[in-house]
Amino acid sequence: MERHKVLVTRRWPAAIEAKLQERYDVTLNEGDIPMSPSQIRDALMTHDAILPTVTDTVTEEALSAPNARCKIIANYGVGYSHICEASAKAQGLVVTNTPDVLSDCTADIAMTLMLMVARRAGDGEREVRGGAWTGWRPTHMVGRKVSGKTLGIIGYGRIGQEMARRAHFGFGMEILVHSRSQVDPDVLAHCNAEQVSSIEDLLPRCDFVSLHCPGGAANRHLINADRLALMKPSAYLINTARGGIIDEHALIQALTFDTIGGAALDVFDGEPRISPALMECDNLVMLPHLGSASIETREAMGERVLDNLQDFFSGQTPRDRVI
Ligand code: DGY
Repeated sequence: MERHKVLVTRRWPAAIEAKLQERYDVTLNEGDIPMSPSQIRDALMTHDAILPTVTDTVTEEALSAPNARCKIIANYGVGYSHICEASAKAQGLVVTNTPDVLSDCTADIAMTLMLMVARRAGDGEREVRGGAWTGWRPTHMVGRKVSGKTLGIIGYGRIGQEMARRAHFGFGMEILVHSRSQVDPDVLAHCNAEQVSSIEDLLPRCDFVSLHCPGGAANRHLINADRLALMKPSAYLINTARGGIIDEHALIQALTFDTIGGAALDVFDGEPRISPALMECDNLVMLPHLGSASIETREAMGERVLDNLQDFFSGQTPRDRVI
């Protein structure tokens, strides 16, 4: 029997690529270079499934392929704001993602960033490696304590809840939550969290604010100049969700003029391009989108894509269908 033809847009963990090759006629992107919208559009005509990642802009242009052979976009990642929802719907494409399996590791990176920025771990590492450390002294590289402080979490899905669990049980933090929908009281009670009705109510009360909401047009620049101005001058902003959620220009102003304590980012608007002005900010920690970057998680994400393809090609609704 002819095997389904599947395009993988970036290199995946070897074990998962091997499993894909056992089951499908796989086109790999050997060079691991992001594909252009027109390359993706061409692939829609010649493949039964496209397996993109966050680095592919599956735009209206990419999806403008009437009568395409491809009927499923099985995304490798939980966020899918890089896929044009309206065009996918118009083309009758099924879109799936990979939830759950990356919640632990993404929350781990959010905790890492929170600790790094508050305790100046980035500064410290640079000083030691730069050979500039002159020794212990009471006033050297003094940061702020994390334990026992108040953490505001914007977006209380699976990753937000994992972040709350780590912060509350590991660091005795008070948890405030903002979510568009009412969070189940039992879920809030688990971390003794309080849901507040607006972001404006949350920001002034927090020592740390961590973003865990989806990206896309609805949340673009959710954290803007007005909202940054509501944060305590000592508070830190953490983003492991999507770069576009923060108005980067407003953040640069806040960091440059020290109107907030600092920020720690794993994601950037227009990444991997980083604004030169961000590079100048000392009160900022930056990581290169490492949220899900553990071998266990990256393999589990691949398994989830395999499950979704298996469901789809056997005529069932894939377990992680989002469009
Ligand atoms: C996601 O899954 O959306 C991450 O950003 C990439 O792991």
